[in-house]
Amino acid sequence: MTNIFYQFQKGKYTTVPYLLKITQPRQPQTSPIGIFDSGVGGISVLKELYRQLPKETFIYFADTARLPYGTKSQTEIVQFVRQVLTWMQKQGVKMAIIACNTATAAAIDRVALEYNFPVIGMIEPGANTVVHRSSKRIGVIATLHTVKSNAYLNTILKIDPSILVFQVGAPTLVPLIEQGRIDDVYTLEVVRQYLKPLIAKQIDTLILGCTHYPHLIHLFRQILDSSVQIVDPAIAVVRTAAQELQSLGKLSDRPPHCTSFYVSGNPEEFAQRVQQFLGFTPRVEQFCLGVESVKIQSESVA
Ligand code: DGL
Repeated sequence: MTNIFYQFQKGKYTTVPYLLKITQPRQPQTSPIGIFDSGVGGISVLKELYRQLPKETFIYFADTARLPYGTKSQTEIVQFVRQVLTWMQKQGVKMAIIACNTATAAAIDRVALEYNFPVIGMIEPGANTVVHRSSKRIGVIATLHTVKSNAYLNTILKIDPSILVFQVGAPTLVPLIEQGRIDDVYTLEVVRQYLKPLIAKQIDTLILGCTHYPHLIHLFRQILDSSVQIVDPAIAVVRTAAQELQSLGKLSDRPPHCTSFYVSGNPEEFAQRVQQFLGFTPRVEQFCLGVESVKIQSESVA
């Protein structure tokens, strides 16, 4: 839209046509949903969001400068989550999804009620979904932090104490996925080693307890017996988000805007990595939480 502005120059007013993006407050239904992860893990959740909620607009934040979260202390992770959610609040999100199991395990109980929008995490919907599949021997593969927190184990046992839960921490996987090594023979071997103790326990179900791992689902499928169900909690998480928006009357019925991507680390690297998972190279802006605002942009390709 073209607006006319007046400027005072050389003793007289002149008119200046100016292209202005009108910043009207958005309707609650068309406000974006914020999603965040330490890196590309949340992209597996974003793909599910695109599938189940095609009319929604999304803002994705990846805290790549502070990745991995899985080896950080709870105090640090809680601080990171608060910074991200506070920033999302300023972006006017109608909901935030913590698309990171580690951040959910460390922080959701402490921070969720501090915001005026619903905050959805990974663990409760993920745990609920396996309990209702009549699984009896569940394996959880996750980051060290998520495993140590026992978040999946406690949530599952609260619903059904007769279920057996076996957990494995897999710290090597996130760096490999962030490097894009999702088809390497080496990565396949690493996955095989991590799955060994779970296979020995004869699990009937495997929860991918880190949002990075669905990017390796083809490797998990290759190693596990076909009778073992592999559960990506993202499906249940997005269903929960959709139900929540529906009950609040905030589901969008308009065509969506493009997803906005922000990272705290290198935007070009992130854009390139996302291409591998989404099939297009997004425009990514750098935003350093708690430091300075937007500095660098990657080029938009698709
Ligand atoms: N994607 C995150 C999760 O679901 C973990 C990645 C990390 O360790 O930073 O737990």
